[in-house]
Amino acid sequence: MFILKPPGPGLQTLVLGVFGLCLALSGPLRAEPAALTLTLDPRHIERSVSPSLYGLMTEEINHSADGGLYAEMVQNRAFHTDWNNEAPWDLVRRGDAVAHRSMDHATGPSPTLGYSLKLEALAASPGNEAGLTNPGYWGFGLRPHTAYQGSFFAKSAGDAFGDLEVRLVANQTGQILATTKVALRPGDWRQYRFSLTTGDIQPSAANHLELLVDHPGVVWLQLVSLMPPTYKDRANGNRIDLMEKMAALHPKFLRLPGGNFLEGMTPESWYDWKKTIGPLTDRPGHDGAWFYRSSDGLGLLEYLEWCEDLGIEPVLAVYAGYSLGGAHIETGKALQPYVQSALDEIEFVSGDASTPWGAVRARNGHPAPFALRYVEIGNEDYLDRSGSYGARYAQFAAAIRQHYPKLQLIATDGNLDFGTRTRTDADVSDEHFYESPSQMMDLAHHYDAASRSGPKIFVGEWATRSGSPTPNFGDALGDAAWMTGLERNSDLIIMASYAPLLANINPGALQWETDLIGFDALSSYGSPSYWAQTLFAGHIGDGYVASDLKGDTGRFFSSATFESGQKVLHLKLVNASTKDAVLHLTIQGLKEAVSARVYSLHAPSFDATNSLRDPDAIRPVQSTVAVPAGSFDHRIPALTIEVLDIPWPS
Ligand code: AHR
Repeated sequence: MFILKPPGPGLQTLVLGVFGLCLALSGPLRAEPAALTLTLDPRHIERSVSPSLYGLMTEEINHSADGGLYAEMVQNRAFHTDWNNEAPWDLVRRGDAVAHRSMDHATGPSPTLGYSLKLEALAASPGNEAGLTNPGYWGFGLRPHTAYQGSFFAKSAGDAFGDLEVRLVANQTGQILATTKVALRPGDWRQYRFSLTTGDIQPSAANHLELLVDHPGVVWLQLVSLMPPTYKDRANGNRIDLMEKMAALHPKFLRLPGGNFLEGMTPESWYDWKKTIGPLTDRPGHDGAWFYRSSDGLGLLEYLEWCEDLGIEPVLAVYAGYSLGGAHIETGKALQPYVQSALDEIEFVSGDASTPWGAVRARNGHPAPFALRYVEIGNEDYLDRSGSYGARYAQFAAAIRQHYPKLQLIATDGNLDFGTRTRTDADVSDEHFYESPSQMMDLAHHYDAASRSGPKIFVGEWATRSGSPTPNFGDALGDAAWMTGLERNSDLIIMASYAPLLANINPGALQWETDLIGFDALSSYGSPSYWAQTLFAGHIGDGYVASDLKGDTGRFFSSATFESGQKVLHLKLVNASTKDAVLHLTIQGLKEAVSARVYSLHAPSFDATNSLRDPDAIRPVQSTVAVPAGSFDHRIPALTIEVLDIPWPS
């Protein structure tokens, strides 16, 4: 060893550096791989695997809907008046223009939106325009050669207002990327539609919207909207990239609409679904539980259409009279309107068009009822320290079971461990887990010995949490370990959904760290946990195969399910250790050699992750492996999640 500097504070670094140099010269130190044995017998199915095991959970958090999945690009399109100066709208006065804006609470396009923004241009001319700007939800994500469909409600003063120009403008350069003029007619409120088409531009989120006049005049505006192309071309629809990412998760259901969003912070801000349906002019929006207002443009019917577009079933959560701030509604007369609301909601979802609420749904554009099997009563009601849930649940359950005896009811009074789960007659209990990577790995066997005689389990929210804003590879390993436990116990666990699913990663948009899919106004990416879940949900059988894993299993996890239709053994192997593992694998009953497809997700460290800048740093890689009849040794690299699809010769 040679010392370049006199000993001092840098010595430790220097010694480590020299040690590293020696290692580099002599080649990496190779730890002995862990030796494990796994014996499987796909002819012996131990337990059934639920056909609905993996699904989605949604709520308005992290601008998941507004500024996220819901494709609306204009932030605060209805000038909600609780916000100081109707942020984030701003007044434009170019050059010598003179203009004012104010809220007018005496006029609007509907009783619900009975107010509007009044723009008074006292002096304006070409080059000296007056008007309004909107920054979007942390930008307007624009792509080349794309048509954006816009609309607004307006009322103008006088006989001839003239044109209102709508522009999409690049923030950095002021370049006009798309523009159109809308001729306003004199008279009362009417809706105007327009289209803005981009040219040969670079995809970018750093853009804003401008509404301008180049002449004096007075105009009132409300519900200013701009939509990009949507998934399956739905009007008032969803972002394509996010829907495609969800489809690739192979979900079977969507738990909606929350989460804490269902409850609201107080009973006044509960999810009053009747205010989220019908024309947008009839939707007031409401204060969400996550410290921002929900436009409810993605309302109850849109949640259901989201299910329809992904071919999945809704798991409908109804407000049960408890809100996150701790207040609850007393049972009896006070709770009855909420019970009736739940009955009406179930009818809106699943009643045919001859029922009163089914008819409302039909009028809103969806005559066909949605298939509904599960209704969840409340959310995380074990947090209600008053102990009122048992009685509140009973009042809801009695009414729902009387009118809809086939529905399966889900209770939210707590995890098995909390000792709170005995107060209801529920068919299913919703249990939630948010843990660190090592805790989640420790929980992989949580349900192995759980009683099979109580209600079925819905793990309605779960996540390994350490990465921010989205999970890192350590989280993906925790999630994968946990999912081996979900699959092994899927005779009991009939459904499971990760939460939160979506996050607008702009700092001002985020309330909850470690969210499955990250996005900004333009693009999105799947976290390592997202990819792990695509693998688990996309490769699963209908029966859990008798398996015996032996050796140092502290950081090694497996699940083996058999798909009886396709005759495929789906073997999942999770090596969360920093050492490679050599698995001595015996597949009993396999009479001939086969070629298995291997899907491998690997990263060099727990901290490695994906991001908007580097969305594909960690992604599954495909290969094949020869699987002989009898036994063989299979090496699983350190920090790797693997799925082997092993065809089963008939
Ligand atoms: O997923 C985030 C929050 O976690 C949900 O709203 C709530 O149900 C849970 O506490």
